[in-house]
Amino acid sequence: MEFKSNNMLLFVSIFWFVFLSPLVNCQLYYNFYDTTCPNLTGIVRDNVRSAMAKDARIAASLLRLHFHDCFVIGCDASVLLDDTGTLKGEKNALPNKNSLRGFEVIDTIKAALEKACPSTVSCADILTLAARETVYLSKGPFWYVPLGRRDGTTASESEANNLPSPFEPVENITAKFISKGLEKKDVAVLSGAHTLGFAQCFSFKPRLFDFGGSGKSDPSLDVSLLQNLVKLCPNQADSDTNLAPLDPVTTNTFDNMYYKNIVNNSGLLQSDQALLGDSTIASLVNVYSKWPIMFFRDFAVSMEKMSRIGVLTGSRGQIRTNCRAVN
Ligand code: HEM
Ligand SMILES: *[C@@H]1O[C@H](CO)[C@@H](O)[C@H](O)[C@H]1NC(C)=O
Ligand SMILES: *[C@@H]1O[C@H](CO)[C@@H](O)[C@H](O)[C@H]1NC(C)=O
Ligand SMILES: *[C@@H]1O[C@H](CO)[C@@H](O)[C@H](O)[C@H]1NC(C)=O
Repeated sequence: MEFKSNNMLLFVSIFWFVFLSPLVNCQLYYNFYDTTCPNLTGIVRDNVRSAMAKDARIAASLLRLHFHDCFVIGCDASVLLDDTGTLKGEKNALPNKNSLRGFEVIDTIKAALEKACPSTVSCADILTLAARETVYLSKGPFWYVPLGRRDGTTASESEANNLPSPFEPVENITAKFISKGLEKKDVAVLSGAHTLGFAQCFSFKPRLFDFGGSGKSDPSLDVSLLQNLVKLCPNQADSDTNLAPLDPVTTNTFDNMYYKNIVNNSGLLQSDQALLGDSTIASLVNVYSKWPIMFFRDFAVSMEKMSRIGVLTGSRGQIRTNCRAVN
């Protein structure tokens, strides 16, 4: 009799692990922390707001941090891990090194959350919520963030080196988005994040002096913008880290000016202006340049999609106590 019920227990357990737990494990929930950390949203919002009051650019930097997290082995906070003797992080990858910012703000939010609700909120969820807050607090759209991501225990410098580059053609960037389960439309929509923040001269300099090896400037760059950029980024290496706003018209406001600029040949990065080279993406750029409300609606949808890439849920991964290190 006892033998039989043990068998039954075993059967139920196996059935659960093989068939049901994978279903549960792929889920995120809007109310995930409602009982375990009820003040989560308020704590993240207050900290992002005060960081923005000290440094307006930090909104852009936190938004980019979430993108660089999700595109490299999923939204698992791998981007936050420091190098150790046994783990090679992503911070020294080419697209990240001397470029990613905002790690200290994430540390501050994590410290506040460890005080309010210890070992409860993942660093991956903090990155996702902080990204939403930066957009909302910059006068952009609001959306609800599904939660329950867990933190990874690995990182991938090589995948980070494979992040979309500003020197790649739109076909290559689109292929990278599709390889992450996103679509061509998401390239048009999420590129609109470049309505905030800055780029260093080296990330667009070839457009000013030697476009495609021509020895000339990029013909698809507005002449007066070109003149301003040449002043900011003279043709010598010591100007490489000077900063130009990605959207010079309304730099700290989340709006559709990025698309208006592109329509006017005033996209900063080669990859921004190159969106017009794909007819599907170009028609979306035109729509968003005229209809901010369409851009806001689609941006919220694409951000939620991006925030689901490769997430760890259920019992996979861990809740780090320090976002920079595996427990
Ligand atoms: C489509 C392909 C993309 C390319 C090629 C690209 C490339 C770049 C480059 C080169 C910079 C300047 C970095 C520097 O000079 O230090 C930058 C900045 C930025 N990117 Fe992107 N990006 C892309 C997509 C995205 C996406 C999907 C987001 C977010 C949803 C995003 C958000 C940002 C933000 C906010 C900044 C400014 C960061 C700051 O000021 O700290 N980008 N991007
Ligand atoms: C929630 O967090 C905010 C910001 O840190 C704080 O002002 C507020 O008092 C907190 N509320 C509760 C109920 O803890
Ligand atoms: C674009 O992708 C193609 C095919 O994968 C590759 O051969 C080419 O080097 C890429 N171009 C750039 C500029 O990265
Ligand atoms: C784009 O160009 C048009 C026509 O020259 C001008 O009226 C408009 O203000 C420009 N928009 C931006 C965002 O520069």
